[in-house]
Amino acid sequence: MHLCLSGPLTTEQVTVPIPGLSAALKGTTLVQFSDFHFDGLRLSPRLLGQAITRSNHLEPDLVVLTGDFVTEDPAPIYPLATKLKQLRSRHGTYAVLGNHDDVTLEGRQMIMDALRRAGITVLWNDIAYPLGPDLPLVGLADLWSGPLRARDLLAQIPADCPRILLAHNPDTAAAVMGDRVDLQLSGHTHGGQILLPGIGPLPLLARRLRYYLPRWLRQHLPYLNDHCDRITRHWEWASGLHTVGDNCLYVNRGLGTYFPGRWRCPPELTVITLTPAPQRRLHPAEQKREAVNLTLAE
Ligand SMILES: [Fe+2]
Repeated sequence: MHLCLSGPLTTEQVTVPIPGLSAALKGTTLVQFSDFHFDGLRLSPRLLGQAITRSNHLEPDLVVLTGDFVTEDPAPIYPLATKLKQLRSRHGTYAVLGNHDDVTLEGRQMIMDALRRAGITVLWNDIAYPLGPDLPLVGLADLWSGPLRARDLLAQIPADCPRILLAHNPDTAAAVMGDRVDLQLSGHTHGGQILLPGIGPLPLLARRLRYYLPRWLRQHLPYLNDHCDRITRHWEWASGLHTVGDNCLYVNRGLGTYFPGRWRCPPELTVITLTPAPQRRLHPAEQKREAVNLTLAE
């Protein structure tokens, strides 16, 4: 039974300029999926099958999955991984986990093992090179899973080398603003699920309204309770493409749906096309790090 209203699957097409992208990678296409919440309630097998078929039809260079494969119980990862094994691309499928995939240590390991058995590379504070040495893919543990390792990982990449970051929670963008991230791909917010014309995601409005209501009342109201405020600090980044400092963030609305459902915020498959842009100036911190690296290399 699927309690939540979802709406039809939409394909979002976005072209992202990547400073210093090598000519060989011009036109590289990535398909992103996020927030499956495959638990029998929040994502129908039909919608999932449709998303996989559509992705395969697009013949992308790479498929990336940005977490929340399950909701609480990790067991549905087995049927989900069987389905995700059908994803096709030139350079494989890469994944990071979300907060719902890290409820217990055992559950997290179950999810990682199931995905890896399905041929999916799971990055947990790791760097991979599916597109070659000129465009590393950095995959983080979820922001709520412990100390953020982003700075250490990003510092391992030469400052003039563009990089893509997979991080479930878009709030990560605020934490890595001082580092070079040419494109961060995230999910987590489900786009806010309800989009109000001219206003944006309902949680953004609710954040302003909630202080006018007594706590005992708002705790019983979806979007007005404290939990909604804790999901993300940056509801203004609930979906789509954003510039955060010198970095670029894309937030996918996800496939799964929570109560009370979606309105004007349909589940999403994203097709990202990379295009070259002029090399960017180094951050002061990067300049300092490069100077130290050069000194050490001499
Ligand atoms: Fe989620």
